[in-house]
Amino acid sequence: MAPISRKVFIQTAIALGATAAWGHSLTLPSAFSWRERRDLYPEGVASGDPDSNSVLLWTRYPSNGHAAKKLNVEVAEDESFHQVVASAKAVISEASDWTCRVLVGGLKPARVYWYRFTDAKGNGSRLSRTITAPTDNDERPIRFVFVSCQNVNQGAQNAYRRMIFEDEGAAELDRLGFILHLGDFIYEIVWYPEDRPQGMYDRRIRDIVRYQHGEKIEDFHIPTVVDDYRAIYRAYLHDPDLQDARARWPFVCMWDNHEFSWLGWQSLQKFQGTTRPAQTRKVAANQAFFEYQPARIFKPSGPSLDQFHPPRVVDQPVTHFDDHGLGQETNNMTAIRSLRGYRALRWGRNTELIITDQRSYRSEDPTDRAEANAFSSKDFPEFFPEEALEIFDAGRVYDQGHPPVSVHYGDNNVPNFRKDQPPQTILGAEQKAWFLEKLLRSKATWKIWGNTIATLDMRADPQNLPPDLTRPWPGSGFAGFVGGDFGTAYVERGEIYDFVRDNGITGFATVAGDRHSFWAGLAAKFLPPKSFEPVGIAFVTASISAPGMVEAFEHVFPKDHPLRPLFVGQGPSDARPQPTVNMLLRHGVKSCLEYAKSGDISKARALSNPDLSPHVSFADMGGHGYSVVRVTSDSFEAEFVCIPRPLERSNRADGGPLLYRSKHRAKLWGSRETPRLESQIVEGDARFSV
Ligand SMILES: [Fe+2]
Repeated sequence: MAPISRKVFIQTAIALGATAAWGHSLTLPSAFSWRERRDLYPEGVASGDPDSNSVLLWTRYPSNGHAAKKLNVEVAEDESFHQVVASAKAVISEASDWTCRVLVGGLKPARVYWYRFTDAKGNGSRLSRTITAPTDNDERPIRFVFVSCQNVNQGAQNAYRRMIFEDEGAAELDRLGFILHLGDFIYEIVWYPEDRPQGMYDRRIRDIVRYQHGEKIEDFHIPTVVDDYRAIYRAYLHDPDLQDARARWPFVCMWDNHEFSWLGWQSLQKFQGTTRPAQTRKVAANQAFFEYQPARIFKPSGPSLDQFHPPRVVDQPVTHFDDHGLGQETNNMTAIRSLRGYRALRWGRNTELIITDQRSYRSEDPTDRAEANAFSSKDFPEFFPEEALEIFDAGRVYDQGHPPVSVHYGDNNVPNFRKDQPPQTILGAEQKAWFLEKLLRSKATWKIWGNTIATLDMRADPQNLPPDLTRPWPGSGFAGFVGGDFGTAYVERGEIYDFVRDNGITGFATVAGDRHSFWAGLAAKFLPPKSFEPVGIAFVTASISAPGMVEAFEHVFPKDHPLRPLFVGQGPSDARPQPTVNMLLRHGVKSCLEYAKSGDISKARALSNPDLSPHVSFADMGGHGYSVVRVTSDSFEAEFVCIPRPLERSNRADGGPLLYRSKHRAKLWGSRETPRLESQIVEGDARFSV
């Protein structure tokens, strides 16, 4: 980004709803007496969305009965604040739940700054660190982490402690520039300890929040108004490891589903199989996100410096959807437009991060419809026939506009409930147009799609099960796993990948979350038996702490089920279940059955089905941790740092032991070349994942 004028900077700050502070070229010692009082800033501090000359700073200073309306914020080049380069008054008020956002401009590119907030009496926040981005023509390598899915209600954030430990020990040039948080920063669904005295899977339920206005559904609680959403952000920010991470690096945050609602889409919620309008809750969720996450996101409610000004909406049923699946009901439109989260950020010549919103504009996941239950069977847990997934995704455009009237599942003929409807969209028309334009115009070496949900197909081959094991697979070929992500949004994913190919766009890399698992692979529209033509590389990071599929299966998968060896199998000498589902996804059913028989992993891998997952180099449905990206002018590397199941907070300085560290590298490819990925386990054991 080129240097901007003070005037443009002030306009930007106003549009973002932030107080502005303009850096000066003279450095001066701090004019404030500061003494640390972390108790007055119980949610800590944060910085977000840096560019090459500015960054957003954040804190919360609850009133506690005093009448402070402003804090002093200072930004310095040194930790002792002898070289202060910018200062401003930050407005705090009850209307923004005592949070504040300050956009500091006039900073130098690619450097570390220190910042702190101080009240009129000299009571200060902790000292904190942030980092600006390099300028657009700066060739230097970029390093960042991407994470998702932290659950403070059910786990510990040891991954952040490990991240801090490794960064502190790294050489200056190897340190991280920022943390990309791809959603489920909070889980709005909360269990109170008494709701589940037995805990959840391996987890102890923590008493983190009591919603003042919440709603209880089955045995959990959800927020209903902005004060509830604010309360859950506060509860999460009291986690010491998350708070330390926010004080060390700038965060770039995008919401996924749980920032609003578990099965939410647009402004609708779904609980107990019923879709209900929730426009007021969507606005409340957006308001709390705006207040608690310093991000360059736009609210259309006007140029307020310090408040969100929620638009007035009511909860009205949404019944009419346009050709792009967008609910036309006025309150729905107002609610989803009350905050625009999609945006692009640039780090030097080599990195442009294009971040999209997968929840606010998406059409209904067709596999979430009651009619789709006809394709689920207790005999084949998790498996959904791939051909049915394709038919329901495409709707009326299937087979060039000739969708079948019904779909076979064994002896059943299930009506095609999607045959008259438009294809599924996750981005929505307006955002997709913006996204494709950004991809096309980007001058960065690597166009990194910051996508909260995964894009890699998650596939198994039950058609290859031996006939005597269970009844015949009712599908006609491969099985997909239902997840509502881009792994089954074939039409829209294909449109994006075709665009990448047709425009000769190279360096297309996707980083994603949501799946609570590590994945490394190639971005391809089709898999065998169709033609397999990758156009990019794609990664998924495991959860920081939320439970994943392997943990769930260890608890709930029936012990006597004939397909248990495919998910949590045990070899003859294994004392406990193993994550064989990783092998299922990568190599197929024959490998899993061989492992259960012999316990010999090489023998098992030798039976790999080459047509199943040529797009996957690594999959771990049981991992937790974080992913480090290292980008240079000719290479992209994703490193998965996997920690043990984070049941309790580690008291070790390094956050506890590692299970493994794996690296996945691609060389930059030319516009007519096919991307390739090389994987390597550099530490520990990930034997079922490769
Ligand atoms: Fe999640």
